[in-house]
Amino acid sequence: PADAGYAERLLRWFDINGRHDLPWQHPRTPYRVWLSEIMLQQTQVKTAIPYFERFVAALPTLPALAAAPGDDVMALWSGLGYYARARNLQAAARRCMEQHGGELPRDIDALTALPGIGRSTAAAILSQAWGDRHAILDGNVKRVLARYHGIDGYPGQPAVEKQLWQRAESHLPSARMADYTQAQMDLGATLCTRADPACVLCPLQDDCVARREGRVAELPTPKPG
Ligand code: ADE
Ligand code: SF4
Repeated sequence: PADAGYAERLLRWFDINGRHDLPWQHPRTPYRVWLSEIMLQQTQVKTAIPYFERFVAALPTLPALAAAPGDDVMALWSGLGYYARARNLQAAARRCMEQHGGELPRDIDALTALPGIGRSTAAAILSQAWGDRHAILDGNVKRVLARYHGIDGYPGQPAVEKQLWQRAESHLPSARMADYTQAQMDLGATLCTRADPACVLCPLQDDCVARREGRVAELPTPKPG
């Protein structure tokens, strides 16, 4: 890897400070990881956990989700909001029954082609479910990378986003991909927060450009307009 130090420091921090007791980590099956990632797209971990437990208790497998009445799926989602997520989830499960032998495909392009799964979600699924080597880039990771590398410009802008993807790929470890993906989520959620990040506790502080240059509060660049 181009910069193993980044991943090594993050993983060492994660071993002590990360979240190791999330319900989708035990057991960490592709179906459970997928469901958790869809819930966590717009819902906080703490809020999602009881919904996740209830959902997998009622529909424990991808074939069960595909076969369920649509109203049952919506009832299990009720309260989480962003209901297109639940409709897409079941549509994707049904497509997996027809096109992928009743399983989630272990392929980034096939996953991204399913309803509700973008590039970062596909990478989060593949890395956590199988340990495959793919970079994620959600809002939390964009914030950490923009600060760490001192990348100016609104991260939603394609040229900026492209730089962030390249940086994300440059940091990938050669092992422990599931932990690495979770570690990035945890760092962005607990230390490198939007307002008032805890840089003194951060495993990346020695090489963080924003910290060195006193630009933590300015990065990432807000949406223009
Ligand atoms: N957001 C998306 N995926 C997540 C995860 N696995 N843990 C915490 N937050 C997340
Ligand atoms: Fe974020 Fe501060 Fe860590 Fe830099 S040193 S990555 S700004 S928490």
